[in-house]
Amino acid sequence: MDIALAVIGGTGVYRLAALEDVESRYFETPYGAPSGPLRIGRLGQARVAFLARHGEGHALPPHRVNYRANLHSLRQAGATRVLALNTVGGITDGYGPRVLACPDQLVDYTWGRESSFWDGEGEALHVDFSHPYTPAFRHQLLAAAQAAGVQVVDGGCYGATQGPRLETCAEIARMRRDGCDLVGMTGMPEAGLARELGLDYACLAIVANWAAGCGDAREITLDEVLENVAAASAGLPQLVAELARG
Ligand code: HPA
Repeated sequence: MDIALAVIGGTGVYRLAALEDVESRYFETPYGAPSGPLRIGRLGQARVAFLARHGEGHALPPHRVNYRANLHSLRQAGATRVLALNTVGGITDGYGPRVLACPDQLVDYTWGRESSFWDGEGEALHVDFSHPYTPAFRHQLLAAAQAAGVQVVDGGCYGATQGPRLETCAEIARMRRDGCDLVGMTGMPEAGLARELGLDYACLAIVANWAAGCGDAREITLDEVLENVAAASAGLPQLVAELARG
């Protein structure tokens, strides 16, 4: 049976509790080992694969995640649609803590990460990336959210930073000038690699805090981040089930 949907969980989302008859599969890829096993199971009638991006014990910081192996393993498992859950900070009005958003653009500020499957051999891989999130899949995600009664902001620009430290106020002010609404550390190179593999890919950003200098931002703590992610994720099981069904 095909995989109807693959889900990559970010900070604070380490499993899909509603998954039934779960089988764990450990993949080796030409790019090394993924962050952990794929948990493949059933959500209703649909087969869904889940991968914890940072590992299930959150041992991998954003700059150490093997994004190439992760996406390759999902494709090896037979996935064609990948829902990326990304914990983020909010920069602009409308993107405050506990908001869920489905960005339609991104700016990449990361560096030094393996960002392509093309190592200079074989045919050049200059994929079109004008619209980094698959438009049709974004629409499916938004429709699934509506059907599940989960409020999701349609659109926004995700700025991917290197981390693992959080940003300075000046860095966030620059990102705001660049047009970013959200800031996270894991959106790239993941989205670009998904495009290289021809996977449908969309991001559901979970706003955990105001980014530095925004809103009523104070010192950002992991407790605050995890508390807001848990609260914002309440509707995720229904949303994912709807998306897997469609
Ligand atoms: N910046 C970058 N990544 C993040 C943040 C942030 O403020 N919050 C959660 N992930």
